[in-house]
Amino acid sequence: MNRCLLVTGGAGFIGSNFVHYWCQHYPENRVVVLDALTYAGNRANLAKLEERENFRFVRGDICDRSLVEQLLQSENIDTIAHFAAESHVDRSILEPGAFVKTNVVGTYTLLEAFRQHWQINSKPAHYRFLHVSTDEVYGSLGPDDPAFSETTPYAPNSPYSASKAGSDHLVRAYYHTYKLPTIITNCSNNYGPYQFPEKLIPLTCINILMGKPLPVYGDGKNVRDWLYVGDHCSALDAVIHRGIPGETYNIGGNNEVENINLVRMICQLMDELAPSNLPVRPAENLITFVKDRPGHDRRYAINATKIKTQLGWTPSVTLSEGLRLTAKWYLNHHRWWQPLLSPDYQDYYQKNYIFS
Ligand code: NAD
Ligand code: DAU
Repeated sequence: MNRCLLVTGGAGFIGSNFVHYWCQHYPENRVVVLDALTYAGNRANLAKLEERENFRFVRGDICDRSLVEQLLQSENIDTIAHFAAESHVDRSILEPGAFVKTNVVGTYTLLEAFRQHWQINSKPAHYRFLHVSTDEVYGSLGPDDPAFSETTPYAPNSPYSASKAGSDHLVRAYYHTYKLPTIITNCSNNYGPYQFPEKLIPLTCINILMGKPLPVYGDGKNVRDWLYVGDHCSALDAVIHRGIPGETYNIGGNNEVENINLVRMICQLMDELAPSNLPVRPAENLITFVKDRPGHDRRYAINATKIKTQLGWTPSVTLSEGLRLTAKWYLNHHRWWQPLLSPDYQDYYQKNYIFS
Protein backbone atom coordinates (compact mmCIF):
# COMPACT_ATOMS: atom_id res chain seq x y z
CA MET A 1 0.00 0.00 0.00
CA ASN A 2 1.25 3.48 -0.86
CA ARG A 3 0.84 5.25 2.47
CA CYS A 4 1.00 8.97 3.13
CA LEU A 5 2.41 9.63 6.60
CA LEU A 6 2.24 12.62 8.88
CA VAL A 7 5.15 12.25 11.31
CA THR A 8 4.79 14.58 14.29
CA GLY A 9 8.02 15.35 16.15
CA GLY A 10 9.97 14.07 13.13
CA ALA A 11 12.88 16.44 13.82
CA GLY A 12 13.51 14.97 17.27
CA PHE A 13 15.60 11.95 18.21
CA ILE A 14 13.35 8.94 17.54
CA GLY A 15 11.16 10.78 15.02
CA SER A 16 14.10 11.66 12.77
CA ASN A 17 15.51 8.13 12.97
CA PHE A 18 12.04 6.87 12.03
CA VAL A 19 11.77 9.25 9.06
CA HIS A 20 15.17 8.10 7.75
CA TYR A 21 14.13 4.48 8.27
CA TRP A 22 10.81 4.96 6.50
CA CYS A 23 12.21 6.87 3.52
CA GLN A 24 14.85 4.18 3.06
CA HIS A 25 12.46 1.21 3.31
CA TYR A 26 9.41 2.73 1.62
CA PRO A 27 10.71 5.35 -0.84
CA GLU A 28 7.37 5.34 -2.68
CA ASN A 29 5.51 6.59 0.42
CA ARG A 30 5.05 10.32 1.01
CA VAL A 31 6.30 11.58 4.38
CA VAL A 32 5.22 14.93 5.84
CA VAL A 33 6.96 15.99 9.05
CA LEU A 34 5.19 18.36 11.44
CA ASP A 35 7.54 19.67 14.12
CA ALA A 36 7.54 22.82 16.26
CA LEU A 37 11.36 22.80 16.49
CA THR A 38 11.49 23.20 20.24
CA TYR A 39 14.94 23.03 21.86
CA ALA A 40 14.85 19.25 21.17
CA GLY A 41 13.93 19.51 17.50
CA ASN A 42 16.64 19.98 14.90
CA ARG A 43 15.95 20.34 11.20
CA ALA A 44 19.54 19.35 10.47
CA ASN A 45 18.57 15.80 11.50
CA LEU A 46 16.57 15.61 8.27
CA ALA A 47 18.95 17.55 6.01
CA LYS A 48 19.71 14.56 3.78
CA LEU A 49 16.01 14.14 2.96
CA GLU A 50 15.09 17.74 2.14
CA GLU A 51 15.65 17.32 -1.61
CA ARG A 52 13.34 14.33 -1.97
CA GLU A 53 10.09 14.87 -3.86
CA ASN A 54 8.19 12.62 -1.48
CA PHE A 55 9.27 14.54 1.60
CA ARG A 56 7.99 17.77 3.15
CA PHE A 57 8.92 19.54 6.37
CA VAL A 58 6.40 21.83 8.06
CA ARG A 59 7.30 23.85 11.11
CA GLY A 60 4.25 24.01 13.36
CA ASP A 61 2.62 23.05 16.62
CA ILE A 62 0.46 19.94 17.05
CA CYS A 63 -1.84 22.11 19.21
CA ASP A 64 -2.65 24.23 16.12
CA ARG A 65 -5.90 22.55 15.05
CA SER A 66 -6.41 24.44 11.79
CA LEU A 67 -2.85 23.72 10.64
CA VAL A 68 -3.25 20.02 11.44
CA GLU A 69 -6.64 19.85 9.66
CA GLN A 70 -5.27 21.61 6.61
CA LEU A 71 -2.28 19.24 6.41
CA LEU A 72 -4.38 16.10 6.80
CA GLN A 73 -6.66 17.21 4.00
CA SER A 74 -4.21 18.79 1.55
CA GLU A 75 -1.69 15.95 1.87
CA ASN A 76 -4.35 13.24 1.95
CA ILE A 77 -2.78 11.70 5.05
CA ASP A 78 -3.82 8.15 5.96
CA THR A 79 -1.30 7.43 8.73
CA ILE A 80 -0.19 9.55 11.67
CA ALA A 81 3.00 8.47 13.43
CA HIS A 82 2.83 10.61 16.56
CA PHE A 83 6.21 11.23 18.22
CA ALA A 84 5.89 14.93 19.13
CA ALA A 85 6.23 15.39 22.86
CA GLU A 86 8.12 17.00 25.65
CA SER A 87 10.23 13.97 26.51
CA HIS A 88 12.72 14.70 29.29
CA VAL A 89 11.80 13.67 32.85
CA ASP A 90 14.14 16.16 34.54
CA ARG A 91 12.66 19.09 32.62
CA SER A 92 9.15 17.90 33.54
CA ILE A 93 10.14 18.19 37.21
CA LEU A 94 11.45 21.73 36.71
CA GLU A 95 8.60 22.98 34.44
CA PRO A 96 5.63 20.63 33.97
CA GLY A 97 3.31 23.02 32.07
CA ALA A 98 4.70 22.40 28.58
CA PHE A 99 4.29 18.65 29.15
CA VAL A 100 0.58 18.94 29.81
CA LYS A 101 0.13 21.22 26.82
CA THR A 102 2.00 19.25 24.18
CA ASN A 103 1.57 15.71 25.44
CA VAL A 104 -2.07 15.91 26.51
CA VAL A 105 -3.65 18.84 24.64
CA GLY A 106 -1.50 18.27 21.54
CA THR A 107 -2.46 14.59 21.36
CA TYR A 108 -6.13 15.49 21.86
CA THR A 109 -5.89 18.04 19.03
CA LEU A 110 -4.39 15.48 16.65
CA LEU A 111 -7.00 12.88 17.58
CA GLU A 112 -9.88 15.27 16.95
CA ALA A 113 -8.50 16.45 13.62
CA PHE A 114 -7.76 12.88 12.52
CA ARG A 115 -11.23 11.69 13.59
CA GLN A 116 -12.85 14.40 11.48
CA HIS A 117 -10.60 13.62 8.50
CA TRP A 118 -11.31 9.86 8.80
CA GLN A 119 -15.07 10.46 9.03
CA ILE A 120 -15.17 12.87 6.07
CA ASN A 121 -13.38 10.23 4.00
CA SER A 122 -15.92 7.51 4.97
CA LYS A 123 -13.75 5.80 7.60
CA PRO A 124 -11.19 3.97 5.43
CA ALA A 125 -10.06 0.71 7.03
CA HIS A 126 -6.36 1.27 6.34
CA TYR A 127 -6.10 4.60 8.22
CA ARG A 128 -3.86 4.44 11.30
CA PHE A 129 -3.07 6.67 14.28
CA LEU A 130 0.13 5.31 15.84
CA HIS A 131 0.74 6.80 19.27
CA VAL A 132 4.36 6.39 20.33
CA SER A 133 4.45 6.13 24.11
CA THR A 134 6.69 5.01 26.91
CA ASP A 135 7.12 2.25 29.49
CA GLU A 136 7.26 4.98 32.18
CA VAL A 137 3.44 5.04 32.30
CA TYR A 138 3.60 1.74 34.22
CA GLY A 139 5.59 3.25 37.11
CA SER A 140 8.49 1.65 38.92
CA LEU A 141 9.42 -2.03 39.46
CA GLY A 142 11.04 -3.69 42.46
CA PRO A 143 14.08 -5.91 41.85
CA ASP A 144 12.06 -9.14 41.60
CA ASP A 145 8.88 -7.85 39.96
CA PRO A 146 7.96 -9.27 36.56
CA ALA A 147 8.58 -6.98 33.59
CA PHE A 148 5.79 -4.63 32.39
CA SER A 149 3.26 -6.30 30.11
CA GLU A 150 0.41 -4.68 28.17
CA THR A 151 -1.95 -5.43 31.09
CA THR A 152 0.21 -3.87 33.83
CA PRO A 153 -1.87 -1.12 35.51
CA TYR A 154 -0.78 2.45 34.85
CA ALA A 155 1.06 4.17 37.75
CA PRO A 156 2.98 7.15 36.33
CA ASN A 157 5.29 8.90 38.80
CA SER A 158 6.66 12.01 37.07
CA PRO A 159 4.88 14.90 35.36
CA TYR A 160 6.33 13.54 32.10
CA SER A 161 4.97 10.02 32.55
CA ALA A 162 1.66 11.33 33.89
CA SER A 163 1.21 13.48 30.78
CA LYS A 164 2.08 10.52 28.54
CA ALA A 165 -0.36 8.33 30.48
CA GLY A 166 -3.05 10.97 29.95
CA SER A 167 -2.38 10.95 26.22
CA ASP A 168 -2.46 7.13 26.12
CA HIS A 169 -5.87 7.14 27.79
CA LEU A 170 -7.23 9.61 25.24
CA VAL A 171 -5.92 7.51 22.36
CA ARG A 172 -7.44 4.39 23.87
CA ALA A 173 -10.77 6.17 24.37
CA TYR A 174 -10.90 7.32 20.73
CA TYR A 175 -10.73 3.70 19.62
CA HIS A 176 -13.22 2.54 22.21
CA THR A 177 -15.73 5.33 21.59
CA TYR A 178 -15.39 6.15 17.87
CA LYS A 179 -13.50 3.08 16.56
CA LEU A 180 -10.84 5.44 15.27
CA PRO A 181 -8.06 3.02 14.19
CA THR A 182 -5.51 3.90 16.86
CA ILE A 183 -2.62 1.79 18.13
CA ILE A 184 -0.43 2.53 21.16
CA THR A 185 3.17 1.42 21.62
CA ASN A 186 4.96 1.62 24.98
CA CYS A 187 8.70 1.45 24.54
CA SER A 188 11.69 1.28 26.87
CA ASN A 189 14.72 3.64 26.85
CA ASN A 190 16.08 4.36 23.38
CA TYR A 191 19.62 5.33 22.44
CA GLY A 192 21.50 6.01 19.21
CA PRO A 193 22.33 8.84 16.77
CA TYR A 194 20.65 12.27 17.02
CA GLN A 195 19.69 12.00 20.71
CA PHE A 196 19.70 15.39 22.41
CA PRO A 197 22.64 15.83 24.85
CA GLU A 198 20.45 16.00 27.99
CA LYS A 199 19.74 12.23 28.06
CA LEU A 200 22.05 9.82 29.93
CA ILE A 201 23.88 8.14 27.03
CA PRO A 202 24.63 11.19 24.84
CA LEU A 203 25.41 13.23 27.96
CA THR A 204 27.96 10.62 29.04
CA CYS A 205 29.57 10.42 25.58
CA ILE A 206 29.77 14.20 25.18
CA ASN A 207 31.02 14.91 28.71
CA ILE A 208 33.78 12.30 28.27
CA LEU A 209 34.85 14.03 25.05
CA MET A 210 34.91 17.38 26.88
CA GLY A 211 36.56 16.06 30.06
CA LYS A 212 33.55 17.11 32.18
CA PRO A 213 32.10 15.25 35.21
CA LEU A 214 29.70 12.41 34.44
CA PRO A 215 26.71 12.96 36.74
CA VAL A 216 25.15 9.75 38.07
CA TYR A 217 22.00 10.18 40.15
CA GLY A 218 21.69 8.69 43.64
CA ASP A 219 23.48 5.37 44.11
CA GLY A 220 23.59 4.66 40.35
CA LYS A 221 21.66 1.42 40.80
CA ASN A 222 18.48 2.43 38.99
CA VAL A 223 17.81 0.05 36.13
CA ARG A 224 16.69 0.84 32.58
CA ASP A 225 15.96 -1.53 29.68
CA TRP A 226 17.86 -0.16 26.65
CA LEU A 227 16.82 -0.44 23.00
CA TYR A 228 18.78 0.75 19.98
CA VAL A 229 16.67 3.32 18.15
CA GLY A 230 16.85 1.48 14.80
CA ASP A 231 15.16 -1.49 16.46
CA HIS A 232 12.41 0.77 17.78
CA CYS A 233 11.84 1.96 14.19
CA SER A 234 11.54 -1.60 12.86
CA ALA A 235 9.06 -2.39 15.66
CA LEU A 236 6.93 0.61 14.67
CA ASP A 237 7.07 -0.55 11.04
CA ALA A 238 5.66 -3.94 12.16
CA VAL A 239 2.95 -2.19 14.18
CA ILE A 240 1.88 0.13 11.35
CA HIS A 241 1.72 -2.72 8.84
CA ARG A 242 0.49 -5.61 10.96
CA GLY A 243 -0.74 -4.17 14.28
CA ILE A 244 -4.41 -4.43 15.20
CA PRO A 245 -6.34 -1.18 15.85
CA GLY A 246 -7.29 -0.76 19.48
CA GLU A 247 -4.31 -2.81 20.65
CA THR A 248 -1.26 -1.83 22.68
CA TYR A 249 2.22 -3.27 22.04
CA ASN A 250 5.14 -3.12 24.46
CA ILE A 251 8.56 -2.71 22.82
CA GLY A 252 11.81 -3.42 24.65
CA GLY A 253 15.36 -4.53 24.19
CA ASN A 254 15.65 -7.10 26.97
CA ASN A 255 18.75 -5.23 28.11
CA GLU A 256 18.36 -4.34 31.77
CA VAL A 257 21.41 -2.52 33.13
CA GLU A 258 22.14 -0.46 36.25
CA ASN A 259 23.01 3.13 35.32
CA ILE A 260 26.46 2.97 36.90
CA ASN A 261 27.34 -0.11 34.88
CA LEU A 262 26.09 1.50 31.68
CA VAL A 263 28.18 4.61 32.31
CA ARG A 264 31.24 2.43 32.98
CA MET A 265 30.67 0.56 29.70
CA ILE A 266 30.61 3.85 27.79
CA CYS A 267 33.78 5.03 29.58
CA GLN A 268 35.62 1.88 28.54
CA LEU A 269 34.40 2.20 24.96
CA MET A 270 35.54 5.81 24.74
CA ASP A 271 38.95 4.94 26.22
CA GLU A 272 39.28 2.37 23.44
CA LEU A 273 37.82 4.42 20.56
CA ALA A 274 39.47 7.77 21.29
CA PRO A 275 42.72 6.96 23.11
CA SER A 276 44.62 10.05 21.95
CA ASN A 277 42.07 12.83 22.36
CA LEU A 278 40.35 12.32 25.70
CA PRO A 279 41.06 15.15 28.16
CA VAL A 280 40.79 12.68 31.08
CA ARG A 281 41.83 9.01 30.93
CA PRO A 282 40.57 6.61 32.06
CA ALA A 283 37.21 8.26 31.50
CA GLU A 284 35.83 6.49 34.59
CA ASN A 285 37.72 9.06 36.68
CA LEU A 286 35.03 11.55 35.62
CA ILE A 287 32.15 9.62 37.24
CA THR A 288 30.50 11.82 39.89
CA PHE A 289 27.54 10.82 42.05
CA VAL A 290 25.06 13.70 42.31
CA LYS A 291 21.82 14.42 44.15
CA ASP A 292 19.10 12.02 43.03
CA ARG A 293 16.25 12.92 40.68
CA PRO A 294 13.10 13.55 42.81
CA GLY A 295 10.72 10.57 42.58
CA HIS A 296 13.32 8.64 40.56
CA ASP A 297 11.79 5.36 39.29
CA ARG A 298 13.98 2.48 40.41
CA ARG A 299 13.58 -0.04 37.64
CA TYR A 300 11.91 -0.45 34.23
CA ALA A 301 11.73 -3.69 32.28
CA ILE A 302 9.61 -4.61 29.28
CA ASN A 303 8.02 -7.93 28.47
CA ALA A 304 7.94 -7.81 24.66
CA THR A 305 6.37 -11.25 24.14
CA LYS A 306 3.22 -9.90 22.48
CA ILE A 307 4.93 -8.03 19.67
CA LYS A 308 7.26 -10.99 19.15
CA THR A 309 4.57 -13.65 18.95
CA GLN A 310 1.85 -11.62 17.23
CA LEU A 311 3.85 -9.40 14.86
CA GLY A 312 7.12 -11.35 14.55
CA TRP A 313 9.35 -8.49 15.77
CA THR A 314 12.54 -8.92 17.79
CA PRO A 315 15.42 -6.48 18.28
CA SER A 316 18.50 -7.10 16.15
CA VAL A 317 21.20 -4.92 17.76
CA THR A 318 22.87 -6.09 20.99
CA LEU A 319 23.63 -3.54 23.71
CA SER A 320 27.39 -3.76 23.16
CA GLU A 321 27.01 -3.30 19.39
CA GLY A 322 24.55 -0.44 19.84
CA LEU A 323 26.70 1.36 22.40
CA ARG A 324 29.72 1.08 20.12
CA LEU A 325 27.76 2.50 17.17
CA THR A 326 26.47 5.31 19.37
CA ALA A 327 29.82 6.20 20.96
CA LYS A 328 31.40 6.32 17.49
CA TRP A 329 28.58 8.53 16.23
CA TYR A 330 29.08 11.12 18.98
CA LEU A 331 32.84 10.92 18.48
CA ASN A 332 32.42 11.71 14.78
CA HIS A 333 29.64 14.31 15.03
CA HIS A 334 31.08 17.17 17.09
CA ARG A 335 29.55 19.56 14.60
CA TRP A 336 26.09 18.17 15.32
CA TRP A 337 26.21 18.33 19.12
CA GLN A 338 28.47 21.30 19.87
CA PRO A 339 25.87 23.97 18.86
CA LEU A 340 23.28 22.25 21.08
CA LEU A 341 25.30 23.08 24.21
CA SER A 342 23.82 26.59 23.99
CA PRO A 343 23.39 29.16 26.79
CA ASP A 344 19.82 27.86 27.25
CA TYR A 345 21.16 24.35 27.65
CA GLN A 346 23.79 25.54 30.17
CA ASP A 347 21.04 27.29 32.08
CA TYR A 348 19.00 24.06 32.27
CA TYR A 349 22.16 22.16 33.30
CA GLN A 350 22.85 24.58 36.16
CA LYS A 351 19.29 24.30 37.42
CA ASN A 352 19.14 20.52 37.19
CA TYR A 353 22.40 19.29 38.68
CA ILE A 354 23.63 19.61 42.24
CA PHE A 355 27.31 18.66 42.33
CA SER A 356 28.14 18.57 46.06
P1 NAD B 1 12.64 14.38 21.54
O1 NAD B 1 12.47 15.28 22.72
O2 NAD B 1 14.01 14.08 21.04
O3 NAD B 1 11.83 14.98 20.30
C1 NAD B 1 10.54 15.53 20.42
C2 NAD B 1 10.22 16.26 19.13
O4 NAD B 1 8.89 16.79 19.23
C3 NAD B 1 11.15 17.47 18.85
O5 NAD B 1 11.54 17.47 17.50
C4 NAD B 1 10.27 18.68 19.16
O6 NAD B 1 10.60 19.82 18.41
C5 NAD B 1 8.89 18.14 18.80
N1 NAD B 1 7.80 18.84 19.49
C6 NAD B 1 7.72 19.13 20.82
N2 NAD B 1 6.58 19.80 21.09
C7 NAD B 1 5.92 19.92 19.91
C8 NAD B 1 4.68 20.49 19.52
N3 NAD B 1 3.89 21.09 20.41
N4 NAD B 1 4.31 20.44 18.22
C9 NAD B 1 5.10 19.85 17.31
N5 NAD B 1 6.30 19.30 17.60
C10 NAD B 1 6.69 19.33 18.90
O7 NAD B 1 11.85 13.05 21.91
P2 NAD B 1 12.21 11.54 21.57
O8 NAD B 1 13.13 11.03 22.60
O9 NAD B 1 12.53 11.43 20.14
O10 NAD B 1 10.78 10.87 21.85
C11 NAD B 1 9.80 10.80 20.81
C12 NAD B 1 8.54 10.14 21.37
O11 NAD B 1 8.86 8.83 21.83
C13 NAD B 1 7.95 10.87 22.58
O12 NAD B 1 6.56 10.83 22.46
C14 NAD B 1 8.42 10.05 23.77
O13 NAD B 1 7.49 10.14 24.82
C15 NAD B 1 8.46 8.67 23.18
N6 NAD B 1 9.44 7.75 23.78
C16 NAD B 1 10.74 8.12 23.94
C17 NAD B 1 11.67 7.21 24.45
C18 NAD B 1 13.12 7.57 24.62
O14 NAD B 1 13.87 6.78 25.21
N7 NAD B 1 13.60 8.70 24.13
C19 NAD B 1 11.25 5.93 24.82
C20 NAD B 1 9.90 5.59 24.66
C21 NAD B 1 9.00 6.50 24.13
O1 DAU C 1 11.75 4.61 29.55
C1 DAU C 1 11.48 5.40 28.43
C2 DAU C 1 11.88 6.81 28.72
O2 DAU C 1 13.30 6.86 28.71
C3 DAU C 1 11.31 7.82 27.73
O3 DAU C 1 9.92 7.82 27.83
C4 DAU C 1 11.86 9.22 28.01
O4 DAU C 1 11.41 10.12 27.01
C5 DAU C 1 13.37 9.16 27.98
O5 DAU C 1 13.90 10.42 28.32
C6 DAU C 1 13.88 8.11 28.95
O6 DAU C 1 13.61 8.50 30.33
P1 DAU C 1 14.71 8.28 31.47
O7 DAU C 1 14.46 9.24 32.56
O8 DAU C 1 14.82 6.85 31.83
O9 DAU C 1 16.04 8.67 30.61
P2 DAU C 1 17.33 9.52 31.01
O10 DAU C 1 18.31 9.35 29.89
O11 DAU C 1 16.99 10.90 31.43
O12 DAU C 1 17.87 8.75 32.28
C7 DAU C 1 18.24 7.37 32.23
C8 DAU C 1 18.62 6.95 33.64
O13 DAU C 1 19.86 7.60 33.98
C9 DAU C 1 17.65 7.35 34.71
O14 DAU C 1 17.62 6.36 35.73
C10 DAU C 1 18.22 8.64 35.27
C11 DAU C 1 19.71 8.43 35.13
N1 DAU C 1 20.50 9.66 34.87
C12 DAU C 1 20.11 10.48 33.87
C13 DAU C 1 20.80 11.64 33.60
C14 DAU C 1 20.35 12.59 32.51
C15 DAU C 1 21.63 9.92 35.63
O15 DAU C 1 22.01 9.15 36.52
N2 DAU C 1 22.33 11.06 35.35
C16 DAU C 1 21.96 11.94 34.38
O16 DAU C 1 22.63 12.98 34.21
